[in-house]
Amino acid sequence: MELFNETNKLAAVIHKDHTLLPVINRLGAKLGFGDLTIGELCAKEGLDMTFFVEILNVFHNENYFPRRKLLDFSVTIVIDYLLKTHRYYLEYVMPEQERLIDLFLTDCVNGCKENELIRKFYNTFREEFISHVSFEEEKVFPYIITLNGIILNSRRKDTLSDQWLGFTIKGFEKEHGNMDEKMFDLKNIIIKYLPPNYDLNVGNSLLSNLFMFEKDLKNHARIEDKILVPKVKQLEKFIKNDE
Ligand SMILES: [Fe+2]
Ligand SMILES: [Fe+2]
Repeated sequence: MELFNETNKLAAVIHKDHTLLPVINRLGAKLGFGDLTIGELCAKEGLDMTFFVEILNVFHNENYFPRRKLLDFSVTIVIDYLLKTHRYYLEYVMPEQERLIDLFLTDCVNGCKENELIRKFYNTFREEFISHVSFEEEKVFPYIITLNGIILNSRRKDTLSDQWLGFTIKGFEKEHGNMDEKMFDLKNIIIKYLPPNYDLNVGNSLLSNLFMFEKDLKNHARIEDKILVPKVKQLEKFIKNDE
């Protein structure tokens, strides 16, 4: 299994796996880093090198998931990374997908009624995705930060406001599976069922974009389900059952 470490030059890493480009941006690196190694770049930009390397590897290699190591990172650094990923999805990936869907539909010839199915499916996915992300940003993440703050400042559980006392992370993981299924169906409609009466290059661009998004989303959900959720369960146990 190929894994990167802090002695690798970041330029060489990108040449090997360019799908890491948005990942390094979210981690705080911008292009133009010359021959700097990951270690040198992190020192220069004040980034957490271990987190940088681990996230790159988790994304690069789907069989790599050092759960114990990842659980050691602070809740703040993990949530900051997840929030940046949400921004990337909402402000760049999804508008680009909508643009490609528009193009896909305008370029089709001889009646494109069936192709409209794509828009319908996409809109359902988009709605569910946006409400999922809002729930995370408005409820889940603030809840975790609150619990973490109580532990860090050795405060008592009665400092937890009513808003959070009845809240629990249970059942949260299921949501990711539903979205994976919808993304899979969306790709399959184009691959298997729609008549190819659209511009094939546009169709391929749309599909490539969906495949990239699906990969990114799986990694994102993996970090939320396998790192964030266990951390919260641990915090919940400490704080809510401490009588
Ligand atoms: Fe998320
Ligand atoms: Fe999520």
